[in-house]
Amino acid sequence: FLVDKGNYRHFMAKEIYEQPEVVGRTFAHYVDLAAGRVALPEALPFDLANLSRISITACGTAYYAGLVAKYWFEKLARLPVEIDVASEARYREPPLEKGGLTIVISQSGETADTLASLRYAKSQGQHTLAVVNVPTSTIAREASAVVPTLAGPEIGVASTKAFSCQLTVLLCLALAAGRARGTLDEMQEKRLVDALIKVPGLMAEALKQEDEIEVLAREIAKARDVLYLGRGTAYPMALEGALKLKEISYIHAEGYAAGELKHGPIALIDDAVPVIVIAPHDATFEKTVSNMQEVAARGGRIVLIGDARGADAAGLDTLATLMMPDLDPVVAPIVYAVPMQLLAYHTAVVLGKDVDQPRNLAKSVTVE
Ligand code: G6P
Repeated sequence: FLVDKGNYRHFMAKEIYEQPEVVGRTFAHYVDLAAGRVALPEALPFDLANLSRISITACGTAYYAGLVAKYWFEKLARLPVEIDVASEARYREPPLEKGGLTIVISQSGETADTLASLRYAKSQGQHTLAVVNVPTSTIAREASAVVPTLAGPEIGVASTKAFSCQLTVLLCLALAAGRARGTLDEMQEKRLVDALIKVPGLMAEALKQEDEIEVLAREIAKARDVLYLGRGTAYPMALEGALKLKEISYIHAEGYAAGELKHGPIALIDDAVPVIVIAPHDATFEKTVSNMQEVAARGGRIVLIGDARGADAAGLDTLATLMMPDLDPVVAPIVYAVPMQLLAYHTAVVLGKDVDQPRNLAKSVTVE
């Protein structure tokens, strides 16, 4: 059907701004809003309670959504997760337990490597669950069950709203697994569902940082290299933030686990390399603060993406602080996606790059 840019300059901007709506629509599909409980619309053809582990494969941004989900499944459902990029998983041919579960994540549902890893999992007798945005896609047809993201058509090559909707679906699955396995009681589930219900409003608040982000983008646009740091679920978010920036601005960017700073990237720190620290006020926040101090002590310029409590506690001089709303740290990845997308977007716009169709990249990679 007809898709246009509306009043936006680029599809990417439009898709970033659609997120409160499409994330809300997506979780409404998987949650009983009145009861505050997860309610999958269709029964899964396997029992989450009986799994001993989950394997996840995907490519690009979808892979980073899977990496966030690994933290969620392990924490909320005490379910071990093995995750790999599909291009490795398909040739590594990992041993997969018959009757076990492989989850594949794909916006297009057509990515060649992801499809091949799905077929491999099936050949091993695994149940396959596809988190896809295009319900008529090959991956959706071939998987034994589909849990759609309801992001609507995504046109910008750099994935934005599909990513936040993937996270939303995966969190609902992790909650469903936690309930089935008895690792979440009713109160905990309700608390997390309530936190999820607040996400669209929080994303709308995060979008209000756009003016600050636009100013910051002019600084970032001057950099040759940018480092992204995070711990816990903020670590895959750092990887995704770096991917977004390099995809559309062509600035070299790397995401690192904050604790790995001292094992290499600290050698790069000087005042020419902005360090973007994704730090919601969660259980590991203090650890991340000490990494920020290490960066500051070496003249590094820090951009803190965090909340007021964190900014106060860190008490550091930063190049910029992008203030995120207070939230339950479990849902932070979905909300924190917004400033990272906006920062990549505005940096690319400052540099005059083709935001929606970056060079050398394709929206859907159907050949190897
Ligand atoms: C391409 C796109 C990325 C996307 C990746 C996986 O590289 O440019 O934005 O994350 O493919 O695509 P999929 O459709 O499987 O999510």
